[in-house]
Amino acid sequence: MSQITAIILAAGLGTRMKSALPKVMHPVAHRPMIRHLITTLETATQGDDLRIVAVIGPDMPTLEAAVAPHPFVLQHDRRGTGHAVQMALPELPDSGTVLILMGDAPLLRPETVRRLIETRQTKGAALLVGAFRPVNPTGFGRIIQAADGSITRIVEEKDLAPDQKAIPLCNGGIYAVDAARLPGLLARLTPNNAQGEFYLTDIVEHAVSDGALVLPLDIAADEIHGVNSRADLAFVESIAQARYRAAAMAGGATLLDPASVYFAADTKIGQDVTIGPNVVFGPGVTVADRVTIHAFSHIEGTSIASGAIIGPFARLRPGAQIGDGVHVGNFVEVKNAVLGAGAKANHLTYLGDADIGAGANIGAGTITCNYDGINKHRTIVGAGAFIGSNSALVAPVVIGDGALIGAGSTITRDVPADALAVVRGELVQKEGAAERFRETRRAAKAKKKD
Ligand code: UD1
Ligand code: MG
Repeated sequence: MSQITAIILAAGLGTRMKSALPKVMHPVAHRPMIRHLITTLETATQGDDLRIVAVIGPDMPTLEAAVAPHPFVLQHDRRGTGHAVQMALPELPDSGTVLILMGDAPLLRPETVRRLIETRQTKGAALLVGAFRPVNPTGFGRIIQAADGSITRIVEEKDLAPDQKAIPLCNGGIYAVDAARLPGLLARLTPNNAQGEFYLTDIVEHAVSDGALVLPLDIAADEIHGVNSRADLAFVESIAQARYRAAAMAGGATLLDPASVYFAADTKIGQDVTIGPNVVFGPGVTVADRVTIHAFSHIEGTSIASGAIIGPFARLRPGAQIGDGVHVGNFVEVKNAVLGAGAKANHLTYLGDADIGAGANIGAGTITCNYDGINKHRTIVGAGAFIGSNSALVAPVVIGDGALIGAGSTITRDVPADALAVVRGELVQKEGAAERFRETRRAAKAKKKD
């Protein structure tokens, strides 16, 4: 078990996002960017003693809450990445590994975090720098290497000499550093550079002048992408989605048109699940094995048990619990409702705040009238009940097991088990009246033409 302390730099205002939300709170796959990093760190360091410290700006209460229960430190004046890490010094232990990550780069993989920790230890490096070769290096710090491949310096874009611009190896802004050395390295930073900032990257030179080893660790470019604008956010989202689609398929799900399926970061998909085109998952969805989700379904806050068939055009909202083998068909909305095993609601229905018993059949056009304008009430439908089409179940109401509701009924009182309830106007039939009616209309039309 080793001691790992991760500092996440997140004090940036994100001016280019043009947003009231701190930049790192913008969601990717419905999860704030900073929470992606926290989850990645937790996944990567199981069995280690992990501490996370976020460096944030003043007046960012949503960010403080998103980081909790991990501590944060405030950076009042944004004086550079080195200055930001200095703010975290009081929270740092004097041994183990310190990871430094950028809060606006959420695509880092747990395996890479693991590699950073382990490679630094096995190679005996004081500092390991996540490095990559972007197609266009403009804007990134360039890594200057010695003949043996070790790093001697990192030069920021604005400080580059003309002959350094072509250096392909760039700083990804991800570091693993020896905790014992970090305070001494940070103490020597100065703002003597083109931007007048305390550059974290200058710790490289100081480590090298101490005779310590600084090495690059190659990281895939798709893990580095940072977000500075809404366009960057969309790009990062597209990479995240591609990963979730690949993971769902690797886990045994069929995606008929992967590019049109959108997952949330926490979506859980079982085996032999089939997902049609244009299916969107919001947060909090669990899909068990052998479920089929047809095209154009929108699902959030829902658990779907095995063998269920959903959609096309189904909307499952928070609190939907779909039982084994349930059918939820087209234009059916389910909210805060439990559908027992084998229940069916195949067409044009709203089930809100309801308990639907096993095997119940909910006819087309059934509506639970759950809201009286002030309060929400529950509808309970017993096992094996049959609700005829176009029924309104006015909650609170209980339909007993095996009860039968005639089509078109508005049910305002409880119905006992196995009873038949029907609420309907009397059927009136007049022999030949249709033809007599048409006759009067034809006569009226003929008169008009004259
Ligand atoms: C930094 C690196 C650069 C690297 C690039 C990778 C430095 C000096 N340069 O440049 O070598 O190629 O990342 O993306 O480190 N932040 C604070 N407080 C500050 C300044 C920054 O918290 O005072 C945070 C930002 O919110 C952001 C991160 O640190 O999450 C990086 O800052 P940014 O200004 O984007 O650094 P770059 O110029 O991109
Ligand atoms: Mg940046």
